[in-house]
Amino acid sequence: MIVAIDGPAGCGKSTVARCVAKELGYYFLNTGSFYRAVTYAHIQRGGDCSDRAACLETARSIEITVRDGDICIDGQDVEDKLHTKAVDMNASIVSSDPALRQIVTGIIRQIAGSMDIVTEGRDTTTVIFPFAQCKFYFDANAEIRARRRIEQQGEGQSFEEVLELIKKRDHNDMNKEVGSLKIAEDAVYIDTSHLTITQVCEKVVSVVHSRQKEGAIS
Ligand code: DC
Repeated sequence: MIVAIDGPAGCGKSTVARCVAKELGYYFLNTGSFYRAVTYAHIQRGGDCSDRAACLETARSIEITVRDGDICIDGQDVEDKLHTKAVDMNASIVSSDPALRQIVTGIIRQIAGSMDIVTEGRDTTTVIFPFAQCKFYFDANAEIRARRRIEQQGEGQSFEEVLELIKKRDHNDMNKEVGSLKIAEDAVYIDTSHLTITQVCEKVVSVVHSRQKEGAIS
């Protein structure tokens, strides 16, 4: 079973996906981490993130794997290096290249294999796993998302800075040539603005359980 969750930055996808994965005993796969890993590797090489050919070369030359739930580049665990301000901003640019997206989509599908997974990211329900049995689209207003980001990360950015960053990223993510943020026709839409993580998690798990029952019957 593939449970796929899409939605803009800060709408709770990651936290809820982890919680749902734990509850169901499924593997949690965060698709954004793969774009972040390519971005991090490229920055480490001193590369220019707006140079598509160079980013593509980086994506082709590194091996991305997952070990104990952590992202590794060429065997080295980089999970704690993927959420800096530089990676945040540049991942959006790096992930706008259709050719690079194809490479990353291939890597993600290969890692997912035939496992039971809960996965999340911009085009998870529409491009990476259009065949997922359970699809969700989470939303929340930008101010609430900015506040949540500030609580999550300790980088000392002001509310205004984070809000600005979120709005810029929304714009980039919704206007990509390929893999832009869209609501899949068959996705369950959940506005998480005024819901707790537990409430969203319960909703998702209940949909998964009813799909499992439907699957067992049909
Ligand atoms: O979800 P996140 O913030 O970790 O994602 C990092 C970046 O990668 C963000 O700019 C959106 C992009 N992304 C994407 O284009 N497609 C995905 N499936 C997941 C993330």
